[in-house]
Amino acid sequence: MSAEMSNTVLPPLVQRLKGRVAIVTGATAGTGLAAAKLFHRHGAKVFIADIQDDLGRHVCSELSTKEDHVAEYVHCDVTKDDDIRRAVDTAVKVHGRPDIMFSNVGIAETNSPMPSLVDYDASKFEGLMNVNVVGMFRAAKHAARMMIPAKRGSIILTASCASLMAGLGGHGYCTSKHAVVGLTKSLATELGKYGIRVNCISPHAVFTSNTTRFFGLDEAEFHSWADQFANLKGLSLKVDDTAEAALHLAGDESKYISGHNLVVDGGFSVSDSACNSFRTTP
Ligand SMILES: NC(=O)c1ccc[n+]([C@@H]2O[C@H](COP(=O)([O-])OP(=O)(O)OC[C@H]3O[C@@H](n4cnc5c(N)ncnc54)[C@H](O)[C@@H]3O)[C@@H](O)[C@H]2O)c1
Repeated sequence: MSAEMSNTVLPPLVQRLKGRVAIVTGATAGTGLAAAKLFHRHGAKVFIADIQDDLGRHVCSELSTKEDHVAEYVHCDVTKDDDIRRAVDTAVKVHGRPDIMFSNVGIAETNSPMPSLVDYDASKFEGLMNVNVVGMFRAAKHAARMMIPAKRGSIILTASCASLMAGLGGHGYCTSKHAVVGLTKSLATELGKYGIRVNCISPHAVFTSNTTRFFGLDEAEFHSWADQFANLKGLSLKVDDTAEAALHLAGDESKYISGHNLVVDGGFSVSDSACNSFRTTP
């Protein structure tokens, strides 16, 4: 399916999140937007939690009809504990509970110039951790506050291939995404007894405003750059592919999966392209 994923709601038999209540952070663009649309197609009531208020309301008006307010916007800066608390409380007030928390917001350093260690300002490092790690912690904490009494829920955090290897971003990004995997495992360990699953997703590079900021390339240039390093040829990773991974972890198809880092990279992180190039091709 294209990046312009259809808004058409699927018939009830194939809706995998029918009646579920999902909060998606960072859902006015990129991966979060694709996931919010896909969750909605699958019958979820979706809360778009973001800082771009006009865009957020626009996305909701596209998804909801007048009679059926299945998508709502809530202003939520993930660096503010009160904002996340309010987003979760709003979901409870309107629909009784959150079943799914897709904590997706993450930022990266800019590539030009990528700061070397000695030039890397510690306050910038802390700021990145505050969004990429503490923001995930806050989202999980407030979602769990409501999921624990319900004894069910799925919390999904967005990590990255940078959770598995270095060199795909700066020191802050790499450290933060490794930390997201640790947080996932730690939360899954505590929350399992309440029937709550916690997983993360690790996509490889995908064209979004984040990558535009990082690489400064347009979409065609980005895909031709990414294709050189891809292990799986003939396809480009799209935000819809990451959204499908989030759908899998949100729904009952993954009901016994917890503490897992679902890597969406076409085998990039398990292959050594330098060694691979020595192989003879038939
Ligand atoms: N794009 C990639 O190549 C790539 C690869 C691997 C992992 N990721 C991860 O995927 C996630 C989403 O990235 P993307 O590229 O889709 O992002 P994006 O830049 O396309 O969208 C980011 C969204 O987050 C929102 N946002 C930014 N700061 C926020 C804040 N403080 N509070 C609430 N909302 C905020 C923005 O308004 C926007 O809606 C991030 O965690 C990122 O690290 C991205």
